[in-house]
Amino acid sequence: MNRPHLVAIFAQSLDGKIAAHRAQRPSFSSPEDYRHLETQAAQQQALIMGAATLRAYGTSLRIRDPELIQRRTAQGLSPQPLTIICSDSGDIPEDLPFFRQPLTRWLWTTPKGSRIWRNRTGFEDIWVAADWDLPARLARLRSLGIERVGLLGGGRLLGAFLQAGALDELWVTLAPVLLSGYADAPASIEGWQVQGSLPQLELLECRRGSKELFLRYRVEWL
Ligand SMILES: NC(=O)c1ccc[n+]([C@@H]2O[C@H](COP(=O)([O-])OP(=O)(O)OC[C@H]3O[C@@H](n4cnc5c(N)ncnc54)[C@H](OP(=O)(O)O)[C@@H]3O)[C@@H](O)[C@H]2O)c1
Repeated sequence: MNRPHLVAIFAQSLDGKIAAHRAQRPSFSSPEDYRHLETQAAQQQALIMGAATLRAYGTSLRIRDPELIQRRTAQGLSPQPLTIICSDSGDIPEDLPFFRQPLTRWLWTTPKGSRIWRNRTGFEDIWVAADWDLPARLARLRSLGIERVGLLGGGRLLGAFLQAGALDELWVTLAPVLLSGYADAPASIEGWQVQGSLPQLELLECRRGSKELFLRYRVEWL
């Protein structure tokens, strides 16, 4: 496969929403779900996140558990996965706490978005393309030795990866909450238009937490 293995990790309400409002981080995740997210993220070499999610959270995921960090270093990995932000506009406030997190930050953007960052230093590397350009970007990541990548959302980012047929696994946390009564509640997958046949999903794991269900699916592209 000419790209890394890609796993999406996110939590959604029972009615398929990932926050009450697009500009806000979700308020329904439990400490148990955070622990699950951190554990899955710690197995990845890179994490990819949409700019709208970064603007809503102000930070990206940072592995804090010393045991998980130690496991990474024993495997020859850096303490933290590389963090890649996808932004069309490049509109990411420089004063976000994200830029003070101990992470290596890259930006995938467009010519328009890259202009904003020309004289700024927040990202160590900036990849520019006219559109999402995912097959080429993912092939380039693979050629740099990055074989395992986690997708942290949001829904538009996941929609773009599905559109490119670039997803191998889904880790979905089903949270006991209903959010579709909010007018601008973002969905777990947006902007994907089926071309050809649907991907097949095979249930690999189903774990019952104290409040949530943790579901892991393999995605097969026919
Ligand atoms: N429950 C969960 O597990 C979870 C997880 C993640 C996020 N969320 C929630 O999801 C919401 C945000 O999701 P979302 O679907 O609105 O957005 P998103 O998936 O976070 O972001 C999509 C981003 O794609 C960027 N983009 C568009 N075209 C691009 C291109 N050609 N190249 C590179 N990047 C491109 C856009 O950047 P620009 O906007 O800069 O143009 C946009 O911000 C927030 O409410 C957040 O709290 C929840």
